[in-house]
Amino acid sequence: MRKFSGSTARRLMGYIVRGNELRFTVVILSILVSASASVGASVFLESLIDDYISPLLLASNPDFSGLVHALSMMVCLYLAGILCGFLYNWTMASISQRSLKKIRDQLFSHMQDLPIKYFDTHIHGDVMSVYTNDVDTLRQMISQSIPQGISSLVSIIAVLCTMIAMSWMLTLVVLACVACMLLIVRRIAGRSSAYFIKQQAALGALNGYIEEMVEGQKVVKVFCHEQKAKEGFDVLNDKLCECAREANKYANILMPAMNNLGNLQYVIIAIAGGSIALAGGGITLGTIAAFLQLSKSFTQPISQISQQLNSIIMALAGAKRVFELMDEPVEQDGGYVTLVNAKYQGDDLVEADERTGTWAWKHPHEDGTVTYTRLTGDVRFFDVDFAYEPDKPILHNISLYAKPGQKLAFVGATGAGKTTITNLINRFYDIADGKIRYDGININKIKKSDLRRSLGIVLQDTNLFTGTVRENIRYGRLDASDEEVEAAAQLANADEFIRRLPEGYDTMLTDNGANLSQGQRQLIAIARAAVADPPVMILDEATSSIDTRTESLVQRGMDSLMYGRTVFVIAHRLSTVQNSDAIMVLDHGRIIERGNHQELIAQRGTYYQLYTGAFELE
Ligand SMILES: Nc1ncnc2c1ncn2[C@@H]1O[C@H](COP(=O)(O)OP(=O)(O)OP(=O)(O)O)[C@@H](O)[C@H]1O
Ligand SMILES: [Mg+2]
Repeated sequence: MRKFSGSTARRLMGYIVRGNELRFTVVILSILVSASASVGASVFLESLIDDYISPLLLASNPDFSGLVHALSMMVCLYLAGILCGFLYNWTMASISQRSLKKIRDQLFSHMQDLPIKYFDTHIHGDVMSVYTNDVDTLRQMISQSIPQGISSLVSIIAVLCTMIAMSWMLTLVVLACVACMLLIVRRIAGRSSAYFIKQQAALGALNGYIEEMVEGQKVVKVFCHEQKAKEGFDVLNDKLCECAREANKYANILMPAMNNLGNLQYVIIAIAGGSIALAGGGITLGTIAAFLQLSKSFTQPISQISQQLNSIIMALAGAKRVFELMDEPVEQDGGYVTLVNAKYQGDDLVEADERTGTWAWKHPHEDGTVTYTRLTGDVRFFDVDFAYEPDKPILHNISLYAKPGQKLAFVGATGAGKTTITNLINRFYDIADGKIRYDGININKIKKSDLRRSLGIVLQDTNLFTGTVRENIRYGRLDASDEEVEAAAQLANADEFIRRLPEGYDTMLTDNGANLSQGQRQLIAIARAAVADPPVMILDEATSSIDTRTESLVQRGMDSLMYGRTVFVIAHRLSTVQNSDAIMVLDHGRIIERGNHQELIAQRGTYYQLYTGAFELE
């Protein structure tokens, strides 16, 4: 237990109680009623025996009406207890589901705000495991452990007071027995807590592995790695099994241990009570009977709490992982320049409420004035250096400019840093100094969402979502009409194959478009970027899986799409980049050559060698 700071528990309680105050009050009241009903019933036993049963045994002409009255009272007490028991369990179930929903909601919305770096550096299955396993550990704790804990505590206090009032001597006997039990529980529970934390981590690792293997099943099969995959799984599975076994080993012997000790205590009290009564200690038969009952009511909650320790420790381990994800720092955005619709009034650019097709950067200044700069798509890099990890520089001294309407191409070997440059333009990663300017504005000053809205990006890895083809293309601009979606598909040259799909634009795509070919997926991704009609397009290997004939069609489509836009193209196939205004040849994060196709050919440098096939791109 000491492994968890109290703050995890406190924070968890915050989630459970906040917003559920009324329900919680109902729960606590019901618990109070149900606990006092059970104590009351035990106390009643004393008067039942001493005041009704014993006199009746001695009476020559017994009158049972008093006994019947007393018995019906007892039934009522028990009934009230049972009803309140139902009530708090129902209410707790609703509280627990609401709390879990709140936690999942917060997790997901927090996750949406995390930077790309988080996803680049965490195993996705492990993240999934937080939503499923870790959140699930909380369910049992909230719906069972908490109400049982409260009810046990109330019972313990009520029973203790009643016992002291009845006979302090017998109370001492009970307390001594309980102290022994607690010592044993502490020893057992202390051992398992560390293993519960390990168990949740091992479960996460196992889930990460399973997800990877499901995703990569084709690769596994191609390389005949099934056996290796199983072995890898076994290692993780063994680890989980071991942690879970250790965690539960001690926890599982708690219950039988407590039960046996409880029985032992029963005997001890009977003997002690009998001896005290015989020695004239002033206790009656009824007191002993009630005490036997009370001692059960006393140890039962204690053993219940100790059983719940299991799930409490596990839930705290789960909560720790949940809160770790919630505490991941979100993507920072100091940007204050926003993108707005604009129109010209005379020569002045002013903000417009409706969609005008003209966009402007709204730039508030410190002196309270606001300036508007037309969005044209002018991107410039000034001596940009960049490293993903502090001591491993990837880009060196990158300077480039792309004027509106220009097509800029990056070529270079794998790992040269082409994708990295585009990661900087859309601010997936930030450079320390503001050396990138977009329409003359330091890119760090532009609000990330607005910056990305102005860019149409086809990423190197195509990702399609579950939904129809039409929905996937519309992802680029949610208010695009059906005609606009189809026009974008035509531009990307995707229209033809989409119409040949079984249900055309309404064909469902699942599992990242597994029912399409790689090239078809890329065409949809291009259409998705095109539908947004952005002033700047970034196409990272967008045509790498498309055959040469389709490519030249897409090329023509894109040329018309590119009209009036700035386009960054990354391509391994040099035919794609030939008609660019400028081609940058990258090598190990440096631009080593630049110029248009003719100039570079004339230079007879690396590009010339690439082009003439003197050496191939790796
Ligand atoms: N998220 C990341 N964290 C750390 N290093 C990275 C990350 N992404 C890329 N790198 C490193 O940065 C370098 C450049 O990678 P980049 O993806 O920009 O190459 P590229 O030119 O796009 O290659 P390709 O043609 O294969 O797409 C590589 O050496 C790579 O190891
Ligand atoms: Mg790349």
